[in-house]
Amino acid sequence: MRKFFLGFVIAVFVVLGAGFLCVRFGLMDPRADIPVNSFERRIAMPSLDAAVDRRAPEVRNPVQPTNANLIAGMKVYQTNCASCHGDIHRPHGTLADALYPRAPQFVEDAPDMPENQNFYIIQHGIRLSGMPAWKQVLNEREMWQVTGFLSHMDKLPPQVSDAWKAVAGSSPNENSSSGASRMDMKDKNSMKMPMQ
Ligand code: HEC
Repeated sequence: MRKFFLGFVIAVFVVLGAGFLCVRFGLMDPRADIPVNSFERRIAMPSLDAAVDRRAPEVRNPVQPTNANLIAGMKVYQTNCASCHGDIHRPHGTLADALYPRAPQFVEDAPDMPENQNFYIIQHGIRLSGMPAWKQVLNEREMWQVTGFLSHMDKLPPQVSDAWKAVAGSSPNENSSSGASRMDMKDKNSMKMPMQ
């Protein structure tokens, strides 16, 4: 019995040690644009759901889903979230396949988690993923507004979806952020010109 126990302890240390060496000496692939491993997907997703379910306080969204609040939430979303999570013109966000784990595409598959859990994720972000902790940038009301917007994304009143179409730009290749970065490039080039 003692021998069996000793063998078991040694086996555990060998497995842990091998795992540590793989991570420490660079055998893990660091790239974000490789296919998501199905083992990781099967383990990580239920683990994240369970962790958020355990931690997110049972609070209700204090912001009513009026058109004005949904439009405010939409603007927060379009400015901060659309590049990763998609928008009305680009249901598959420009960074959708550039992250590991991939960002869920909310227009293609509407978020169905309870609002308190979405709020918790938006507030605190998700470690080891591209999902930032938005409480560093957004105030509490804005985070509830965008949470309400997510819950209504697949059933927006026409006034809100029309406003979204207008804010997201008129064509799939035109949005305010890429427009701005193109402008920046041009500005930088034109600033450099006289010095060359
Ligand atoms: C830089 C990319 C990026 C940006 C910007 C971003 N997210 Fe995320 N988000 C992610 C990734 C990646 C995940 C998935 C993480 C995982 O599965 O571990 C995620 C997950 C989420 C989830 C959990 C969804 C679920 O079903 O598990 C919510 C809710 C969410 N994001 C909301 C937002 C909101 C709201 C914003 C803007 C205020 C935002 N995200 C901005 C990358 C991003």
